[in-house]
Amino acid sequence: MSLTFELSEPQYEALSRRPSQALAGSILGAAFRASVGIANYPGHIRNHYAAACEELSLPELNEKSGGAVLHENFGLIVEFSQPVELLVHDDEENLVPGLRQLMKTFGPLIFRNARLSSELQEDVQKNIFPSLRFHTDRGRNQHNQISLFTRDPRDDEQMEPRLSSTLIVANVVAWLEFYHQSDSGVGAAEASLRSSFDLFEGQNIKDAIGRIILEQPWKAPRGTGEICLIDNRQVLHASYHHTMSGKGWRIGARYLV
Ligand SMILES: [Fe+2]
Repeated sequence: MSLTFELSEPQYEALSRRPSQALAGSILGAAFRASVGIANYPGHIRNHYAAACEELSLPELNEKSGGAVLHENFGLIVEFSQPVELLVHDDEENLVPGLRQLMKTFGPLIFRNARLSSELQEDVQKNIFPSLRFHTDRGRNQHNQISLFTRDPRDDEQMEPRLSSTLIVANVVAWLEFYHQSDSGVGAAEASLRSSFDLFEGQNIKDAIGRIILEQPWKAPRGTGEICLIDNRQVLHASYHHTMSGKGWRIGARYLV
């Protein structure tokens, strides 16, 4: 049976009041630990792009970059203590309401020790994406803007931890990074039109991970299912190959409304 995951009002409140503290809970007998990916995300963005934020406020910069939602606490990570099958969408590929509510509050969602039901997992496409090219998966006019990335613990390849991770940034971070890199305001004006950016070239991005970049490592122990959901209207993502020894398996990808 698939589990429908949602948080109660007191649990939402606890996470927003103390975002650095993980929350322990259980749903239909499945124990979980929920934690915020990056607490006070706007504060980290303001620190990182202090010069740009002196000229304009972060909300103004965010508006210039397209006006996506800027989440106070960016990303929610839910780890189950035992393997669960998670209900993510209905038959018409609509994201289930509980997860939609979570995405509204936290943006990207990451579930560990969770997989889709068998029938759903079978028609997932598998993709490898280029390195550190931050992009959206969907064109603006496409109706299904939510990417559902999966690691199926029953798949021969995906059973093993992956060599590449997925990096996720809010639209305004990609835009600021581009603005930061380019010398003129013209670059900044152009940037808001793009759906793909080569960013952080030649930089040590390890320092930026956990502050302005959320990472989904895909390297939980052998046989652990993992699920990641992002809204392509709000964030851009890239694959990050940690080593020269390869990219690892192709990730499962499908798109939801
Ligand atoms: Fe992608």
